[in-house]
Amino acid sequence: MEDKIKLHDKVFKPYIRHDRIIAAIDDVADKLNRDFYNCPDVPVILCVLNGSIPFTGELLQRITFPCQVISIKMSSYQGTQSTGTVLNVMGLTSSVKGRRVIICEDIVDTGNTIVALKEMLLDKEGAADVRICTLLVKPDVYDKPDKLDYVGMEIPNAFIVGFGLDYDELGRNNKDIYVIDDNPMKKYYILFGPPGAGKGTHAGAIAQKYNLKHISTGELLRAEIAAGTELGKQAKSLIDAGMLVPDSVVEGMIETAFDTVKGVDGFLLDGFPRNLSQAADLDEILDKRGESVTAVVGLMIDDDMIFQRIRGRAIIEGRADDASDETIANRIKTYHTQTEPLIDYYKAAGKYWEVDVDGGTIEENRARVLAKMETIA
Ligand code: IMP
Repeated sequence: MEDKIKLHDKVFKPYIRHDRIIAAIDDVADKLNRDFYNCPDVPVILCVLNGSIPFTGELLQRITFPCQVISIKMSSYQGTQSTGTVLNVMGLTSSVKGRRVIICEDIVDTGNTIVALKEMLLDKEGAADVRICTLLVKPDVYDKPDKLDYVGMEIPNAFIVGFGLDYDELGRNNKDIYVIDDNPMKKYYILFGPPGAGKGTHAGAIAQKYNLKHISTGELLRAEIAAGTELGKQAKSLIDAGMLVPDSVVEGMIETAFDTVKGVDGFLLDGFPRNLSQAADLDEILDKRGESVTAVVGLMIDDDMIFQRIRGRAIIEGRADDASDETIANRIKTYHTQTEPLIDYYKAAGKYWEVDVDGGTIEENRARVLAKMETIA
């Protein structure tokens, strides 16, 4: 099943898979076939357009008794709300006088549509008998005394789309059913590049402009070290030697941030992922949430510039991992061997964008990074 989908202004998440829908239709068809086996006349299958097209289509392929198929178009919904007034948008495509009718509906919500239709068929159109057959029903909302003769599945009161159901005419062509997502899809940007490229320098401006939470794994770890936590002590010895902290530790901190930070449109990861296995883990973490990496923005400088920038930063910030040329060289080597392969990984996924920040002032480079973000966001 695919990820979340966006229709007009709303996001929908996967809800009922196609194979479950088909299993429900199989059951409904079995019941109909039993009830209409050896029926003395030819019943009419009435497809209520447009939502019931896929349902009626699948059902017909399973119906074994002779039947006639006709359509009608009704409307009671506007956007995601029932208006309470049922409109007969298009007349019956054939008379049902004296006939047994099986109404095929995609979904019964308040029941306004189906009950109005049933009454119309019996009282105005002279049908001999009317049965209601619906793929879905929302029992919490349905408040009519009329029996629903054939029901595929009961669902809670939530707005759904797919398999014929629409949101303002979009979504009918999805083979699975999706439910409206009250917690819409977040953006996940990765700020990528060698140490000293300016990830931390530019992250604030990007995060502010796009309402993202900036997550610097280095800063999260340094906060643990400063607080003297167990995790911090373990991390310190590794960081001081220019080595990487175990993936599980970093990933745990990131997942916690994804779960707990509210009120943002997404996250800006800085310093993570740093190797291919972390990138695969990140994909898995996001996949579980029905989400995925939005884009990776690589800030590129060459090795000489890395030395120059980090030496300068060491004087200003006094970071232990910036202290000696040997540590810097070690970090550059780690970057080239472990982190750089991520460029190809994200390029292959069509998610990699690059900004040259080797020359220029901080302001100039920030403008370049923000301009690049504009082309992605
Ligand atoms: P009712 O008259 O309130 O029972 O609504 C029936 C009609 O409303 C259906 O045939 C659909 O066209 C539409 N509808 C009800 N619930 C939903 C939903 O969750 N998604 C999309 N359409 C819906």
